[in-house]
Amino acid sequence: MLNTRKYLRIKNNEHLPVIILAITIFVVIHLCNKHDEKTANQYIMEDNDKENHQLCPLYPSTLQKHVQLDMSTNLEWADVEQNLKNVQTGGIYTPDDCISRQKLAIIIPFRNRETQLKILLRHLHPFLQRQKRAYRIFVVEQFGNGTFNKGLIMNVAFNQASKSTTPIFDCFIFHDVDLIPENDFNVYECDKRGPRHLAPAVDELRYFLMYNDLIGGVLGLTKEQFFKANGWSNLYWGWGFEDDDMNHRLRHAGYHVSRPPNLVGRYKMIRHEKQTPAVNRYGTLSKWLRYSYDGIRQLSTLDYSIVTTETHLLYTHILVNFTRSATKTIDHLLEDIPKAK
Ligand SMILES: *[C@@H]1O[C@H](CO)[C@@H](O)[C@H](O)[C@H]1NC(C)=O
Ligand SMILES: *[C@@H]1O[C@H](CO)[C@@H](O)[C@H](O)[C@H]1NC(C)=O
Repeated sequence: MLNTRKYLRIKNNEHLPVIILAITIFVVIHLCNKHDEKTANQYIMEDNDKENHQLCPLYPSTLQKHVQLDMSTNLEWADVEQNLKNVQTGGIYTPDDCISRQKLAIIIPFRNRETQLKILLRHLHPFLQRQKRAYRIFVVEQFGNGTFNKGLIMNVAFNQASKSTTPIFDCFIFHDVDLIPENDFNVYECDKRGPRHLAPAVDELRYFLMYNDLIGGVLGLTKEQFFKANGWSNLYWGWGFEDDDMNHRLRHAGYHVSRPPNLVGRYKMIRHEKQTPAVNRYGTLSKWLRYSYDGIRQLSTLDYSIVTTETHLLYTHILVNFTRSATKTIDHLLEDIPKAK
């Protein structure tokens, strides 16, 4: 008897260090996450208009924490449209049981990704409707097969959207076509205090914010924030870095970017082939200090044309046409301006 008890006690004691180690690791990881989220300015938006009962709540009871995502790629437009009958032509929606808080212009830069666009719109419309947002979805496409210039077409879309007077948009959300939001509590709302990076946690990147300066994917800016940054750079020809450039602009303009916590700002990325990276993108980025000479204010000096602005059932389509010489009035900025420290 005595021997057995002694044996049990030793056995229990043997496990103790392992248990303590496991708990310690768990606590350390948790604290590191909390620390990272703090340094990356991650927090949930607060409802400051709770007293106004006509206004839609920031977190309506219709929100879902874990949205079932259907990533199937074989749908026709008719199937997608079938399930979204409450959307007005042009991709417009206004909640009818409360007054929406902000009017959102969702801007999706796009080319040759029709399958992804269907998947995104199939989820984005119901997502925004459960959030009771008033919004319009703009898909801006670069015509033809020339080198892609995402910054330029996003500037064009901003310009078109801000010309609208019915409604006047309060908040511009630049949204990659391949990112599908997973959690409704990631409310699409601009923060007047600063730019809001809505996509800190993407499944392809293991749901972690890779670095504090990352603002790519989904970014919400008020008109004022957008203008203070002078919009997007027009000088990134090819894939990548225009978002890092925007990060420099926003910080130099004095803003502190915020984000939802990783558990809330979660997205699924639709897999696709990598595109051709921008030529000399490191050089272009190193000269970001040119920003007041290269952005939305210079758009009228650039050589582009809007081929069509068409209203489809689920979105407004802006088709933009230009060649590599579109930015010839500002190309010299990449030589003249000294590097930023
Ligand atoms: C772009 O390339 C595709 C495929 O190679 C081709 O079918 C299409 O006609 C091209 N578009 C233009 C405007 O040249
Ligand atoms: C696009 O621009 C090119 C070059 O300026 C022009 O030749 C072409 O006709 C334009 N296409 C459309 C659809 O506007």
